[in-house]
Amino acid sequence: MGFLYRKFIRQLLFNLNPELVHDAVIKTARAAQRVEFVNSLVRLMARAKDIPLVVAGIRFRNPVGLAAGFDKNCEAARFLAGLGFGFLELGTVTLRPQPGNPKPRLFRLREDHAIINRMGFNNAGAWEAAKSLERLLPLPVPVGISLGKNADCSMDEAPKNYLETLKVMYGYGDYFAVNISSPNTLQLRSLHGGAKLKRLVEPMLDFASGQKKRKPFFVKIAPDLEDGDLEAAAALAVELGFGLIATNTTVSRAAVPAYWQTYEGGLSGKPLRELSNSILAKTAGLVKGRVPLMGSGGISDGPTALEKLKLGADLVQIYSGLVYEGPFLVKEILEYLDRHHWHPHPSH
Ligand SMILES: Cc1cc2nc3c(=O)[nH]c(=O)nc-3n(C[C@H](O)[C@H](O)[C@H](O)COP(=O)(O)O)c2cc1C
Repeated sequence: MGFLYRKFIRQLLFNLNPELVHDAVIKTARAAQRVEFVNSLVRLMARAKDIPLVVAGIRFRNPVGLAAGFDKNCEAARFLAGLGFGFLELGTVTLRPQPGNPKPRLFRLREDHAIINRMGFNNAGAWEAAKSLERLLPLPVPVGISLGKNADCSMDEAPKNYLETLKVMYGYGDYFAVNISSPNTLQLRSLHGGAKLKRLVEPMLDFASGQKKRKPFFVKIAPDLEDGDLEAAAALAVELGFGLIATNTTVSRAAVPAYWQTYEGGLSGKPLRELSNSILAKTAGLVKGRVPLMGSGGISDGPTALEKLKLGADLVQIYSGLVYEGPFLVKEILEYLDRHHWHPHPSH
Protein backbone atom coordinates (compact mmCIF):
# COMPACT_ATOMS: atom_id res chain seq x y z
CA MET A 1 0.00 0.00 0.00
CA GLY A 2 2.82 2.38 0.93
CA PHE A 3 4.56 1.37 -2.28
CA LEU A 4 1.54 2.43 -4.38
CA TYR A 5 1.48 5.81 -2.67
CA ARG A 6 5.21 6.43 -3.12
CA LYS A 7 5.25 5.22 -6.71
CA PHE A 8 2.09 6.82 -8.13
CA ILE A 9 -0.05 8.95 -5.84
CA ARG A 10 2.79 11.06 -4.44
CA GLN A 11 3.94 11.98 -7.98
CA LEU A 12 0.47 13.11 -8.80
CA LEU A 13 -0.06 15.14 -5.65
CA PHE A 14 3.41 16.70 -5.78
CA ASN A 15 2.55 18.31 -9.12
CA LEU A 16 -0.06 20.40 -7.34
CA ASN A 17 0.20 23.33 -4.93
CA PRO A 18 0.97 21.96 -1.42
CA GLU A 19 -1.65 23.93 0.47
CA LEU A 20 -4.29 23.15 -2.14
CA VAL A 21 -3.54 19.44 -1.76
CA HIS A 22 -3.70 19.67 2.01
CA ASP A 23 -7.04 21.47 1.96
CA ALA A 24 -8.41 18.93 -0.53
CA VAL A 25 -7.25 16.04 1.67
CA ILE A 26 -9.00 17.51 4.72
CA LYS A 27 -12.18 18.23 2.74
CA THR A 28 -12.22 14.70 1.28
CA ALA A 29 -11.57 13.14 4.68
CA ARG A 30 -14.34 15.25 6.20
CA ALA A 31 -16.81 14.07 3.58
CA ALA A 32 -15.62 10.46 3.62
CA GLN A 33 -15.96 10.09 7.40
CA ARG A 34 -19.72 10.60 7.08
CA VAL A 35 -19.99 7.37 5.08
CA GLU A 36 -19.75 4.38 7.40
CA PHE A 37 -18.73 2.06 4.58
CA VAL A 38 -15.69 4.24 3.81
CA ASN A 39 -14.71 4.40 7.49
CA SER A 40 -14.89 0.61 7.74
CA LEU A 41 -12.88 0.12 4.56
CA VAL A 42 -10.13 2.53 5.69
CA ARG A 43 -10.02 0.86 9.11
CA LEU A 44 -9.71 -2.55 7.47
CA MET A 45 -6.88 -1.42 5.17
CA ALA A 46 -4.96 0.31 7.96
CA ARG A 47 -5.50 -2.38 10.58
CA ALA A 48 -2.51 -3.36 12.70
CA LYS A 49 -2.10 -5.19 15.98
CA ASP A 50 -2.80 -2.97 19.00
CA ILE A 51 0.10 -2.10 21.31
CA PRO A 52 -1.90 -0.79 24.27
CA LEU A 53 -0.28 1.55 26.77
CA VAL A 54 -1.18 4.09 29.44
CA VAL A 55 0.53 7.49 29.44
CA ALA A 56 -0.48 10.47 31.59
CA GLY A 57 -3.40 8.41 32.84
CA ILE A 58 -4.78 7.99 29.30
CA ARG A 59 -5.24 4.62 27.67
CA PHE A 60 -3.76 4.59 24.11
CA ARG A 61 -4.20 1.73 21.62
CA ASN A 62 -0.68 2.31 20.30
CA PRO A 63 2.09 4.91 20.69
CA VAL A 64 1.90 6.49 17.19
CA GLY A 65 -0.07 9.72 16.98
CA LEU A 66 -0.87 12.40 14.46
CA ALA A 67 1.12 15.60 15.13
CA ALA A 68 -0.59 18.98 15.46
CA GLY A 69 -1.19 21.18 12.44
CA PHE A 70 -2.62 18.53 10.12
CA ASP A 71 -6.24 18.96 11.19
CA LYS A 72 -6.21 22.51 12.50
CA ASN A 73 -9.99 22.85 12.77
CA CYS A 74 -10.62 19.40 14.25
CA GLU A 75 -12.87 18.49 11.34
CA ALA A 76 -11.54 15.19 9.96
CA ALA A 77 -10.81 13.35 13.22
CA ARG A 78 -13.06 10.35 12.61
CA PHE A 79 -11.44 9.60 9.25
CA LEU A 80 -7.94 10.15 10.64
CA ALA A 81 -8.60 7.82 13.58
CA GLY A 82 -9.42 5.13 11.01
CA LEU A 83 -5.84 5.30 9.69
CA GLY A 84 -4.73 3.44 12.81
CA PHE A 85 -3.27 6.27 14.88
CA GLY A 86 -3.05 5.66 18.61
CA PHE A 87 -4.13 9.25 19.19
CA LEU A 88 -4.69 12.51 17.35
CA GLU A 89 -3.34 15.91 18.30
CA LEU A 90 -5.72 18.40 16.70
CA GLY A 91 -5.28 22.15 16.20
CA THR A 92 -3.37 24.35 16.83
CA VAL A 93 -6.51 26.20 17.84
CA THR A 94 -6.52 29.89 18.78
CA LEU A 95 -9.31 31.65 20.66
CA ARG A 96 -10.44 33.82 17.76
CA PRO A 97 -10.36 32.78 14.09
CA GLN A 98 -7.39 34.12 12.12
CA PRO A 99 -6.22 33.84 8.51
CA GLY A 100 -2.55 33.04 9.20
CA ASN A 101 0.32 34.38 7.09
CA PRO A 102 0.09 35.41 3.43
CA LYS A 103 0.40 32.62 0.85
CA PRO A 104 2.52 30.92 -0.36
CA ARG A 105 3.40 29.60 3.10
CA LEU A 106 3.92 25.88 2.62
CA PHE A 107 6.85 24.43 0.64
CA ARG A 108 7.99 20.90 -0.17
CA LEU A 109 11.72 20.15 -0.14
CA ARG A 110 11.27 17.05 -2.26
CA GLU A 111 14.89 15.95 -2.42
CA ASP A 112 15.22 16.20 1.34
CA HIS A 113 11.85 14.67 2.26
CA ALA A 114 11.12 17.84 4.19
CA ILE A 115 8.61 20.67 4.48
CA ILE A 116 8.97 24.36 5.32
CA ASN A 117 5.83 26.00 6.63
CA ARG A 118 4.97 29.44 7.89
CA MET A 119 1.23 28.91 8.13
CA GLY A 120 0.93 31.11 11.24
CA PHE A 121 -1.93 29.32 13.03
CA ASN A 122 -4.52 29.77 10.29
CA ASN A 123 -7.67 28.39 11.90
CA ALA A 124 -11.38 28.94 12.34
CA GLY A 125 -11.08 29.65 16.07
CA ALA A 126 -11.93 27.72 19.22
CA TRP A 127 -15.72 27.93 18.93
CA GLU A 128 -15.72 26.40 15.45
CA ALA A 129 -13.30 23.66 16.54
CA ALA A 130 -15.52 22.88 19.53
CA LYS A 131 -18.61 22.78 17.31
CA SER A 132 -16.89 20.38 14.97
CA LEU A 133 -15.77 18.08 17.80
CA GLU A 134 -19.25 18.21 19.27
CA ARG A 135 -20.41 16.45 16.09
CA LEU A 136 -17.52 13.95 15.94
CA LEU A 137 -17.14 12.82 19.55
CA PRO A 138 -16.87 10.18 20.88
CA LEU A 139 -13.88 9.07 18.81
CA PRO A 140 -12.23 5.66 19.00
CA VAL A 141 -8.87 7.18 20.04
CA PRO A 142 -7.78 9.82 22.58
CA VAL A 143 -7.65 13.37 21.30
CA GLY A 144 -5.15 16.04 22.28
CA ILE A 145 -5.94 19.65 21.55
CA SER A 146 -3.09 21.96 20.70
CA LEU A 147 -3.56 25.47 22.04
CA GLY A 148 -1.93 28.56 20.56
CA LYS A 149 -2.00 32.32 20.81
CA ASN A 150 -3.77 34.76 18.49
CA ALA A 151 -1.27 36.75 16.42
CA ASP A 152 -2.83 40.08 17.46
CA CYS A 153 -2.60 39.32 21.17
CA SER A 154 0.35 40.88 23.01
CA MET A 155 2.83 38.73 24.92
CA ASP A 156 1.50 40.21 28.20
CA GLU A 157 -1.98 39.04 27.28
CA ALA A 158 -0.79 35.59 26.16
CA PRO A 159 -1.63 33.67 29.39
CA LYS A 160 -5.20 35.00 29.32
CA ASN A 161 -5.56 34.19 25.60
CA TYR A 162 -4.39 30.59 26.08
CA LEU A 163 -6.58 30.15 29.16
CA GLU A 164 -9.69 31.39 27.36
CA THR A 165 -8.99 28.95 24.51
CA LEU A 166 -8.56 26.13 27.02
CA LYS A 167 -11.90 26.98 28.64
CA VAL A 168 -13.70 26.66 25.28
CA MET A 169 -11.93 23.42 24.38
CA TYR A 170 -11.68 21.72 27.78
CA GLY A 171 -14.67 19.45 27.33
CA TYR A 172 -13.40 18.11 24.01
CA GLY A 173 -9.83 16.97 24.62
CA ASP A 174 -8.29 14.09 26.54
CA TYR A 175 -5.08 16.11 26.91
CA PHE A 176 -3.91 19.60 25.99
CA ALA A 177 -0.72 20.58 24.22
CA VAL A 178 0.47 24.09 24.95
CA ASN A 179 2.18 25.18 21.78
CA ILE A 180 4.87 27.75 22.55
CA SER A 181 7.22 26.57 19.84
CA SER A 182 5.80 27.56 16.47
CA PRO A 183 8.38 29.82 14.80
CA ASN A 184 5.60 31.54 12.83
CA THR A 185 3.98 33.65 15.54
CA LEU A 186 6.08 36.63 16.56
CA GLN A 187 7.89 36.13 19.91
CA LEU A 188 5.93 32.96 20.70
CA ARG A 189 9.12 31.08 21.44
CA SER A 190 10.09 33.64 24.10
CA LEU A 191 7.50 31.86 26.30
CA HIS A 192 10.06 29.09 26.88
CA GLY A 193 11.78 31.06 29.67
CA GLY A 194 11.14 29.51 33.12
CA ALA A 195 9.20 32.40 34.74
CA LYS A 196 7.22 33.16 31.60
CA LEU A 197 6.35 29.52 31.09
CA LYS A 198 5.17 29.23 34.68
CA ARG A 199 2.98 32.32 34.29
CA LEU A 200 1.50 30.74 31.17
CA VAL A 201 0.93 27.17 32.29
CA GLU A 202 0.02 27.51 35.97
CA PRO A 203 -3.38 29.17 35.39
CA MET A 204 -4.28 26.41 32.93
CA LEU A 205 -3.32 23.68 35.40
CA ASP A 206 -5.28 25.50 38.12
CA PHE A 207 -8.30 25.64 35.84
CA ALA A 208 -8.01 21.90 35.11
CA SER A 209 -7.72 21.11 38.85
CA GLY A 210 -11.03 22.86 39.44
CA GLN A 211 -12.86 20.73 36.85
CA LYS A 212 -14.73 17.49 37.45
CA LYS A 213 -12.04 15.67 35.45
CA ARG A 214 -8.46 16.88 35.74
CA LYS A 215 -6.89 16.40 32.31
CA PRO A 216 -3.15 16.21 31.57
CA PHE A 217 -1.06 18.87 29.84
CA PHE A 218 1.99 18.75 27.59
CA VAL A 219 4.15 21.69 26.53
CA LYS A 220 5.52 21.44 23.00
CA ILE A 221 9.07 22.74 22.83
CA ALA A 222 11.27 24.01 20.01
CA PRO A 223 14.32 22.12 18.75
CA ASP A 224 16.30 25.37 18.69
CA LEU A 225 16.33 25.82 22.48
CA GLU A 226 19.40 26.91 24.39
CA ASP A 227 20.38 24.44 27.11
CA GLY A 228 19.32 26.89 29.84
CA ASP A 229 15.77 27.23 28.50
CA LEU A 230 15.48 23.48 28.04
CA GLU A 231 16.64 22.88 31.61
CA ALA A 232 14.12 25.47 32.87
CA ALA A 233 11.27 23.89 30.91
CA ALA A 234 12.16 20.39 32.13
CA ALA A 235 12.45 21.55 35.76
CA LEU A 236 9.08 23.29 35.55
CA ALA A 237 7.49 20.22 33.96
CA VAL A 238 8.65 18.12 36.91
CA GLU A 239 7.61 20.79 39.44
CA LEU A 240 4.11 21.39 38.03
CA GLY A 241 3.51 17.92 36.61
CA PHE A 242 3.08 18.40 32.87
CA GLY A 243 4.56 16.40 30.01
CA LEU A 244 6.74 17.64 27.15
CA ILE A 245 6.59 17.20 23.38
CA ALA A 246 10.01 17.35 21.73
CA THR A 247 9.93 18.92 19.22
CA ASN A 248 8.23 21.37 16.90
CA THR A 249 9.81 22.51 13.59
CA THR A 250 13.24 24.17 13.40
CA VAL A 251 14.31 27.57 12.12
CA SER A 252 17.74 26.13 11.38
CA ARG A 253 18.65 25.43 7.75
CA ALA A 254 21.92 23.68 8.59
CA ALA A 255 20.64 20.28 7.41
CA VAL A 256 19.26 21.40 4.02
CA PRO A 257 20.83 22.95 0.89
CA ALA A 258 21.66 26.69 1.04
CA TYR A 259 18.89 27.38 -1.49
CA TRP A 260 16.34 27.10 1.34
CA GLN A 261 18.11 29.62 3.58
CA THR A 262 15.85 32.44 2.44
CA TYR A 263 12.60 30.55 3.00
CA GLU A 264 11.27 31.67 6.36
CA GLY A 265 9.33 29.26 8.54
CA GLY A 266 9.69 25.97 10.35
CA LEU A 267 11.48 23.03 8.79
CA SER A 268 10.13 19.52 9.39
CA GLY A 269 10.73 16.04 8.03
CA LYS A 270 13.93 14.01 7.63
CA PRO A 271 16.45 16.88 8.12
CA LEU A 272 14.85 17.69 11.49
CA ARG A 273 15.35 14.20 12.84
CA GLU A 274 18.83 14.46 14.38
CA LEU A 275 18.29 17.85 16.01
CA SER A 276 14.90 16.81 17.35
CA ASN A 277 16.32 13.54 18.67
CA SER A 278 19.14 15.33 20.46
CA ILE A 279 16.61 17.59 22.24
CA LEU A 280 14.46 14.57 23.08
CA ALA A 281 17.45 12.74 24.53
CA LYS A 282 18.50 15.78 26.59
CA THR A 283 14.92 16.22 27.82
CA ALA A 284 14.66 12.56 28.80
CA GLY A 285 17.95 12.91 30.70
CA LEU A 286 16.59 15.92 32.58
CA VAL A 287 13.13 14.64 33.52
CA LYS A 288 14.34 11.10 34.27
CA GLY A 289 10.96 9.44 33.72
CA ARG A 290 9.16 11.75 36.17
CA VAL A 291 6.88 13.23 33.49
CA PRO A 292 5.67 11.77 30.18
CA LEU A 293 7.40 12.64 26.91
CA MET A 294 6.32 12.62 23.27
CA GLY A 295 8.76 12.65 20.37
CA SER A 296 8.03 14.46 17.11
CA GLY A 297 10.35 15.38 14.27
CA GLY A 298 11.60 13.42 11.29
CA ILE A 299 9.87 10.06 11.71
CA SER A 300 9.63 8.44 8.29
CA ASP A 301 9.51 4.70 9.02
CA GLY A 302 9.60 2.03 11.73
CA PRO A 303 13.27 2.48 12.70
CA THR A 304 12.99 6.27 13.09
CA ALA A 305 9.90 5.83 15.29
CA LEU A 306 11.54 3.13 17.41
CA GLU A 307 14.62 5.32 17.80
CA LYS A 308 12.55 8.02 19.56
CA LEU A 309 10.87 5.46 21.81
CA LYS A 310 14.31 4.17 22.77
CA LEU A 311 15.54 7.72 23.45
CA GLY A 312 12.83 8.08 26.09
CA ALA A 313 9.60 9.06 24.32
CA ASP A 314 6.47 7.39 25.66
CA LEU A 315 4.57 8.32 22.50
CA VAL A 316 5.55 9.60 19.07
CA GLN A 317 3.86 11.85 16.53
CA ILE A 318 4.13 12.14 12.76
CA TYR A 319 3.32 14.78 10.17
CA SER A 320 5.78 15.18 7.26
CA GLY A 321 6.22 11.40 7.04
CA LEU A 322 2.56 11.13 6.08
CA VAL A 323 3.13 13.50 3.17
CA TYR A 324 6.18 11.62 1.88
CA GLU A 325 5.32 8.02 2.80
CA GLY A 326 1.52 8.14 2.68
CA PRO A 327 -1.31 7.34 5.06
CA PHE A 328 -0.30 3.71 5.62
CA LEU A 329 2.89 4.83 7.36
CA VAL A 330 1.14 4.32 10.70
CA LYS A 331 0.49 0.66 9.91
CA GLU A 332 4.08 0.22 8.66
CA ILE A 333 5.47 1.67 11.90
CA LEU A 334 3.19 -0.44 14.09
CA GLU A 335 4.14 -3.62 12.25
CA TYR A 336 7.81 -2.74 12.65
CA LEU A 337 7.40 -2.12 16.40
CA ASP A 338 5.59 -5.44 16.72
CA ARG A 339 8.29 -7.30 14.77
CA HIS A 340 10.90 -5.78 17.06
CA HIS A 341 8.91 -6.76 20.16
CA TRP A 342 8.70 -3.20 21.38
CA HIS A 343 6.97 -2.91 24.76
CA PRO A 344 5.88 0.33 26.42
CA HIS A 345 7.66 1.78 29.47
CA PRO A 346 5.84 1.37 32.79
CA SER A 347 3.01 3.92 32.71
CA HIS A 348 3.26 7.41 34.21
C1 LIG B 1 2.35 22.28 7.49
C2 LIG B 1 2.63 22.10 8.94
C3 LIG B 1 1.85 22.74 9.89
C4 LIG B 1 2.11 22.57 11.25
N1 LIG B 1 1.30 23.17 12.16
C5 LIG B 1 1.50 22.95 13.48
C6 LIG B 1 0.63 23.51 14.45
O1 LIG B 1 -0.36 24.15 14.13
N2 LIG B 1 0.91 23.27 15.76
C7 LIG B 1 1.98 22.51 16.17
O2 LIG B 1 2.17 22.33 17.36
N3 LIG B 1 2.81 21.97 15.26
C8 LIG B 1 2.60 22.16 13.94
N4 LIG B 1 3.44 21.60 13.03
C9 LIG B 1 4.59 20.80 13.51
C10 LIG B 1 4.26 19.31 13.57
O3 LIG B 1 3.24 19.06 14.48
C11 LIG B 1 5.50 18.47 13.95
O4 LIG B 1 5.82 18.74 15.29
C12 LIG B 1 6.71 18.80 13.09
O5 LIG B 1 6.32 18.91 11.74
C13 LIG B 1 7.80 17.74 13.21
O6 LIG B 1 7.33 16.48 12.85
P1 LIG B 1 7.54 15.84 11.39
O7 LIG B 1 8.99 15.93 11.07
O8 LIG B 1 6.99 14.44 11.52
O9 LIG B 1 6.71 16.66 10.45
C14 LIG B 1 3.19 21.75 11.66
C15 LIG B 1 3.98 21.11 10.71
C16 LIG B 1 3.72 21.26 9.36
C17 LIG B 1 4.57 20.54 8.35
